[in-house]
Amino acid sequence: MTTRNQRPDRAELPPLPATAPPVPAPDPETDARIRAADRAHVFHSWSAQGHIAPLPIAGAAGSWFWDYSGDRYLDFSSQLVNVNIGHQHPKLVAGIAEQAARLATVSPAFANDARAEAARLIAEVAPGDLNRVFFTNGGAEANEHAVRMARAHTGRHKVMAAYRSYHGATAGAIALTGEPRRWGSEPVAPGVVRYWGPYPYRSAFHAGTEEEESARALEHLRRTMVMEGPHTIAALVLETVVGTNGILVPPPGYLEGVRALCDEFGVLLIADEVMAGFGRCGEWFAVDHWGVVPDLITFAKGINSGYVPLGGVVISDAVADTFRDRPYPGGLTYSGHPLACASAVVSMGVFREENILEHVRTLGEKVIGPELRALAERHPSVGDVRGLGVFWAVELVRDRETREPLVPFNASGADAAPMAEFTAACKAGGLWPFAHFNRTHVVPPCTITEEEVRYGIALLDRALDVADRHTTAAGPGRPGPAAPGR
Ligand SMILES: Cc1ncc(COP(=O)(O)O)c(C=O)c1O
Repeated sequence: MTTRNQRPDRAELPPLPATAPPVPAPDPETDARIRAADRAHVFHSWSAQGHIAPLPIAGAAGSWFWDYSGDRYLDFSSQLVNVNIGHQHPKLVAGIAEQAARLATVSPAFANDARAEAARLIAEVAPGDLNRVFFTNGGAEANEHAVRMARAHTGRHKVMAAYRSYHGATAGAIALTGEPRRWGSEPVAPGVVRYWGPYPYRSAFHAGTEEEESARALEHLRRTMVMEGPHTIAALVLETVVGTNGILVPPPGYLEGVRALCDEFGVLLIADEVMAGFGRCGEWFAVDHWGVVPDLITFAKGINSGYVPLGGVVISDAVADTFRDRPYPGGLTYSGHPLACASAVVSMGVFREENILEHVRTLGEKVIGPELRALAERHPSVGDVRGLGVFWAVELVRDRETREPLVPFNASGADAAPMAEFTAACKAGGLWPFAHFNRTHVVPPCTITEEEVRYGIALLDRALDVADRHTTAAGPGRPGPAAPGR
């Protein structure tokens, strides 16, 4: 059938991948009913409630989802970078149904086969002696508990957390968060010490090379720790690869250097792998890429692709021992929920059966990286391309020389218009992007096929023409900084 996505200029694109599911006929009545109920009764995250119009979604399969208007989208966002094994994986759906029929819920105080098996499987793939798992409902809670464990273990209270980080929206996690989503919750709990992490494209350290960036970021970290008094610092938390704030892949030596500093000062290293873990970087845990062993790893999202809410903390033997004779001061009604844990067990099995880690590494190295770099050659709006696995950022600029971002930091309204036009162009073409500030992230499911990736990047290619119009390369009359009166 013909949908609104299938426009006459479709001929310019590669053929629609055979994996694209058929889209049901438009159903405007259902669409209108959902929209009305949603606007009347649902309070949405991070939004001015009167300024949003959430799109009702009718269904999804694999790397695709569709609405009630007959429009289908290739999911280059994995929703919130969590649907790592794709939408509606039949084994995962069946695993949840089976567990629901057998034992839908049980208190965390009991032992449970799904929970025990999920914990065993996670410990099996976790690095070093991270052998125990505390399950939560999501990423923010995981970070809350990791910090609580670190404080109790060390007897110290401060936590170091980076600018350009997101760690969740609960009280403690938002205090760790180093970006504008924290501002609306301030004042937050005290005890967080902020530092700058590496970002070679926009170095805080005036570094010219990745090696310089790494060395200078580590020197800055050392000085900050010394000035804070290392004996007051319980933990340092970092996103192994910074996610929403830019897909910042640590330069060579950085993570190893952070580990060494933490060891020197008796500070626990917490790796927040809520977004970077479980396949996104082509490894079970992103730290495996650098061979670094944290004291605590937090996870969520990709563990079970979010089919049922689940997160957790993987805990080293030393930290776990702290709570051998002394009770751990924390818990959750749904810690280790059987439905969630059963889905984690099935999902980890699917990763193995379908060889997903290998697939992700190959896609990153052979397809996504080269294709995005080719886009950068064609489009003056592309300032930088970076990433690994299925975790990539395309950073958009007005001017490649000055690196002025396509839209200002944290822009909204008219200031954000160039990005809004770009994302609208993606969607009009049938691609659902993950856009943040002046970047679009290429973060499809780990199971996306090569054909789908190439198709999606061809859609991105077309949408970038819209971004190009806002660059200095677009010439006189462009809506750029040199145009007076703006
Ligand atoms: C790195 C990171 N940590 C923590 C979180 C918070 O996870 P949740 O939304 O499940 O609480 C997120 C969510 O995007 C994240 O990306």
